[in-house]
Amino acid sequence: MRPLVAGNWKMNGLGESLGELSALKAALAQNPPACEVLICPPATLIARAVQTVGAGPGAFAIGGQDCHARDHGAFTGDISAAMLKDAGASAVILGHSERRQSHGETDADVAAKAVAAWGAGLKAVICIGETLAQREAGTQDAVCGGQITGSVPQGATAANTVLAYEPVWAIGTGKTPTPDQIAAMHGHIRACLLARLGEGGRVIPILYGGSVKPDNAAQILNLPDVGGALVGGASLKARDFLAILAGVNQSA
Ligand code: 13P
Repeated sequence: MRPLVAGNWKMNGLGESLGELSALKAALAQNPPACEVLICPPATLIARAVQTVGAGPGAFAIGGQDCHARDHGAFTGDISAAMLKDAGASAVILGHSERRQSHGETDADVAAKAVAAWGAGLKAVICIGETLAQREAGTQDAVCGGQITGSVPQGATAANTVLAYEPVWAIGTGKTPTPDQIAAMHGHIRACLLARLGEGGRVIPILYGGSVKPDNAAQILNLPDVGGALVGGASLKARDFLAILAGVNQSA
């Protein structure tokens, strides 16, 4: 399966940022990537982003960063999976550690959102990952295993789900786990997916996220069971993101 390199813009980006997406599309038209590309801008930009990059040479996918578990209703400020789909999104990030921490999202919330995403025809990019304290206590395997059990619903397939391992302590810090630590955790996640989903768990892509940069992307993407990357800060500028995509080409 082709790797997936996804960008999470978080709460960054105004209309003027669409120029970065146009630049990315033009570059990809010239030099097609060896992977699938997904950018998840803030919800306010999704429809315009799809208009900008959704079709023609160099086109790539646009996704959301969260959705509500319900389809519609009295939930002020929330956005449903159907609304993301309607705006042109094809995927949605769910259970990012920033939402688990600052919005109190539980594993059960994330699982319900994944089912909603599937119902609307979106691919769910389900995030898991341990904190620094959990890593230092040596509990990272149990933590991530528990998050998989709680957040990945039965029915997850390679067609509707991507898992993203994002150690909380590596997000936005410039710190990354060692290649051995990444490989060990991705192997553990694969075993958990197999235990939970049976043979179907073998083909669900597992992305790595947390301080992926142009200078470490090729090495990380080459590790066993790393099916791509979820990139934060370095996805905001077309030049940086293209350099990461070039790392996929090197690892292919
Ligand atoms: P950084 O790449 O900025 O560390 O962010 C990673 C992330 O949280 C992507 O979802």
